[in-house]
Amino acid sequence: MEASPVENLDTFDKRPLLKILKKYAKKKGILIPLLQETQKIYGYLPRLALVQISEATNTDISQVYGVATFYAQFRLAPVGKHLIRVCHGTACHVSGATRITEVCEEEFDIKDGETSKDLKFTLESVACLGCCSLAPVMTVDDNTYGRLTDREVRKVVEKLKK
Ligand code: FES
Repeated sequence: MEASPVENLDTFDKRPLLKILKKYAKKKGILIPLLQETQKIYGYLPRLALVQISEATNTDISQVYGVATFYAQFRLAPVGKHLIRVCHGTACHVSGATRITEVCEEEFDIKDGETSKDLKFTLESVACLGCCSLAPVMTVDDNTYGRLTDREVRKVVEKLKK
């Protein structure tokens, strides 16, 4: 795995992680809650945190990565200040979700699933957001936008970039 742009040995503050590791010391079956708490602190699972967890719990690093990559709740890269989710559920798919994602990729200059270098935007495809009658739909943080067209998407992006 590539190191995230914000993670290196100098900037990774492992003190909060050490506290968690102390709390879970010698407990069994703690890998998932440990990863959940780690993600709560850092917003994602830093590579160095996974190494630390592997050592502290005596768990093979491949097993730690296995769990971290298996569950959709875990992130291995930092999330941008704004999280843009484009729905690719059936209703949105047939209503042009692919094009919505393409417009977002162009506007933010990132690919689906990526975070911009300045850590401002993360773009991701998700399954049904539960408002199919508004298809195609996307959310930006806590706001939902429906019946989107290219033009609408560009307007939303323009506002966000201000
Ligand atoms: S399929 Fe997109 S909101 Fe349901």
